[in-house]
Amino acid sequence: MSNTILVGAQWGDEGKGKIIDFLTETADIVVRSQGGNNAGHTVIVGGTKYVLHLIPSGILRPGKKCVIGNGVVIDPIAVAKEIAGLAEKKIKVSKSNLLISDCAHLVLPYHRSIDEQREARKGKNKIGTTKRGIGPAYGDKAARVGLRMGDLMQPALFSEKLAQRIKENNAVLKAFGAKPLKFAEVNAAYLEAGKKLAPFVGNTVVFLHEALKAGKEILFEGAQGTFLDIDHGTYPYVTSSNTTAGGACTGSGVPPHRMDRVLGVMKAYTTRVGEGPFPTENDAFSDMLHGMGREFGATTGRARRCGWFDAVAVRYAGMINGIDDIAVTNLDGLDTLPSIQVCTHYKIGKMTVDVPPSDFRQLRDAKPVYIELPGWQTPTHEAKKYSDLPKNARAYLQKIAELTGAKLTIASVGPNRDQTIVL
Ligand code: IMP
Ligand code: MG
Repeated sequence: MSNTILVGAQWGDEGKGKIIDFLTETADIVVRSQGGNNAGHTVIVGGTKYVLHLIPSGILRPGKKCVIGNGVVIDPIAVAKEIAGLAEKKIKVSKSNLLISDCAHLVLPYHRSIDEQREARKGKNKIGTTKRGIGPAYGDKAARVGLRMGDLMQPALFSEKLAQRIKENNAVLKAFGAKPLKFAEVNAAYLEAGKKLAPFVGNTVVFLHEALKAGKEILFEGAQGTFLDIDHGTYPYVTSSNTTAGGACTGSGVPPHRMDRVLGVMKAYTTRVGEGPFPTENDAFSDMLHGMGREFGATTGRARRCGWFDAVAVRYAGMINGIDDIAVTNLDGLDTLPSIQVCTHYKIGKMTVDVPPSDFRQLRDAKPVYIELPGWQTPTHEAKKYSDLPKNARAYLQKIAELTGAKLTIASVGPNRDQTIVL
């Protein structure tokens, strides 16, 4: 038995969904512990593409249990839609394979409006959020004025609290010059979604502890990435939850000493969606990847910003998360390049540093120091085992592992399940 926390070691979109799907084969339970439907995990199974936002990717494997933990913020209408969408693709979601924490906070329409209004007012300093209301929902949670899944299960109580919250938020929306919300409409839509979700809602902490006692194997599915972490990321260009390993504990109620391993997922290069500092960003490299039809966001469809592998960032991610093993994805994205740059240090003014500065302005002005590695200029997408990879590709992967200070355990050369090389 071994419980694994899977985290993104960069700015999200590392290909976690695919790796989780792969690891779920041996796990019994997959848990989401933070974030909301800002996340988008793309998994391709047998030629069918699934894009998941709130439901753990483990749902695609029959017989596995999925948990949406207390640390997640849930738009109940979006989850109900996701369940219906999966049913259309013949994936059955029932209370035997999905459990939702009654302590998880709800994302409400005023969170989305306020998210949008704040972004609009920031002008060129906008964060570039997914506009899913994630920041305001976590804000309400911390301010102790949030509504939770458990409230939604009690219609009279929910309506009473919602009426009060809508009154306050309409005053805020009015001040923003935005459209106020109609209580009756929101109330009806949420109660309807609540009815659909009722079979899934309960105490997920007890469920997980019973599973631990029974020796079940749990996989904690991180969303977003280390540098979008509210505490450790490039604040304020971050999301509003703890995307790093500790978030798996607080967001699920499973204590730290029950965790056995942290697996860091990273691309063989770097991408970021939304605004914020990105030292190794490279326009020509971005254009090349977009030209291949790669690197468009699963949630918003936005073209991701792309750049070289940033070992300064990933080494720090190794520290914060306690990464033991790494999975490197999208290796095939580099197949055509004659040579590849890897950032090992930053120059900030006259100083050379190997730790990212905590101030985003300093990070924005940091100049990457690169080493250059030879490319392999050979397609890798059909490689099935490590020895199938070109020598230079193997050397590149080992360099990434060495710079991260962790062990290379998985290399991914395409979006399909069988394009996964285990070492
Ligand atoms: P929010 O989470 O919608 O508030 O967005 C805050 C920042 O996090 C923006 O830069 C988003 O693009 C980014 N972000 C949020 N979720 C994801 C994700 O799942 N993948 C990559 N970036 C994300
Ligand atoms: Mg994503």
